[in-house]
Amino acid sequence: MNPDQKNPHVSGLEPENSGQNEPDGVKLKDWMDRKNPARPKAEKIHPTLWIQGQKSSSLAGKTIALGVTGSIGAVRVVELARELIRNGAEVHAVMTEAAKHILHPDALHYATGNPVITELGGRVEHVEFCGFKGRADLLLIAPATANTIGKIAYGIDDTTVTSFATTALGSGIPVMVVPAMHESMYRHPAVIENVVKLKSWGISMVGPKFEEGVAKIASNEEIVLEVERALGNRGLENRKVLITGGSTAESLDPIRILTNRASGKTGRELALEAYRSGADVTLVHRDRLGLAGIREVFAESAAEMTEAVLSELENGYDVLISSAAIADYTAEPSPEKIKSGGDFVLKLKPTRKLIKECREKHPELVIIGFKAETGVGKEELLKRAAVTLEGTKLDMIAANDVGKGGMGTEENELYLLGKGEPRHVSGNKRKLAACILEEVTGILNSRQVL
Ligand SMILES: Cc1cc2nc3c(=O)[nH]c(=O)nc-3n(C[C@H](O)[C@H](O)[C@H](O)COP(=O)(O)O)c2cc1C
Repeated sequence: MNPDQKNPHVSGLEPENSGQNEPDGVKLKDWMDRKNPARPKAEKIHPTLWIQGQKSSSLAGKTIALGVTGSIGAVRVVELARELIRNGAEVHAVMTEAAKHILHPDALHYATGNPVITELGGRVEHVEFCGFKGRADLLLIAPATANTIGKIAYGIDDTTVTSFATTALGSGIPVMVVPAMHESMYRHPAVIENVVKLKSWGISMVGPKFEEGVAKIASNEEIVLEVERALGNRGLENRKVLITGGSTAESLDPIRILTNRASGKTGRELALEAYRSGADVTLVHRDRLGLAGIREVFAESAAEMTEAVLSELENGYDVLISSAAIADYTAEPSPEKIKSGGDFVLKLKPTRKLIKECREKHPELVIIGFKAETGVGKEELLKRAAVTLEGTKLDMIAANDVGKGGMGTEENELYLLGKGEPRHVSGNKRKLAACILEEVTGILNSRQVL
């Protein structure tokens, strides 16, 4: 089945504007079709699958066998399945007997739109999904109990989920395991050894997250991101990408700061998209993303960000994407709180130019910059961007008129200006990040050819 057949809504990275007077996340045409009694009824899709591909098409055409075992973390899996589907995946759940004591299979039937496999029969479901030529692109075991991890490590095959694991490991279908248990269980020497053994077989582990004495199931955001990375295009595999994001803050006194309206969404989406594409990603910002796969370096002021980036680059990177709105001016901070009530004159001095210093020290590095202007037409914006591109020896510049939006908003409009014709891109910041990284991949690949 091709992705379009599976999901008529998937058209790109985001759904089109859904219009007015329609339920959230449902496109107008689909809504009208449903209201029209004369509509063809050929679509045999479970009603809960109307969400498929509504967030992105990153998993379109991918079939995920979701193994659910008897951890209390199973209560989180309904929403996990929905998130995978929102990103385009087709999900088939497989539950162990113990899992059925925690979550009723009907909940996962509803969530996935597919009957849940609770026992193996003449259909040989484990072979159908995870054998040679199996339907599954990935076996995701979430949550995975200490018991199931141990059984997989020793090739024991006496539950639905362990049979899926046996066939997947034998046929080469990727397996991802998301452990969840009390921390005391996770610290058992056998469990530690079993986890190491599973990793040595190429099984990827997501989490756990240690909190309140529990080795908790990883967040849905983290699991979906790891699935997207595992099943993604891998266009940036073995590439090291350094990204700056958000605003900087210049200290005026111990309490007050001078900052700007950048939200950090672009930097965050760039980091996520680079990670999905298989890159080794470091994000320098004054925020916290908190996803295990993405390395974060905290930098508050323009000076700290410049220092952090220069020192990171010493570790060897392929790309720097400088999306942070770095302060152009800074002040000498007062050691004490500045008194209120009277006039106050602030003397500002220019900050160091991060891109200029990076280019001087790293002539071979691919550097992508951003140019924000206000109230200029397209021609003038492109002219100014071209001057900056040339003057700073950037490989590409993303230019936008922030007077029209972009700072702190969900959507933006950019001109990507490099060697060829400028590319105009618009949409949500995830889509824009994907376009930028597509260009970055092209630049890196063209260098390899030369
Ligand atoms: C309410 C409840 C919660 C449980 N939570 C966990 C858990 O989070 N992790 C775990 O490894 N075992 C947990 N167990 C124990 C497993 O259910 C038990 O080891 C079972 O044999 C696992 O079987 P399975 O791996 O085939 O699903 C829990 C048991 C109960 C009754």
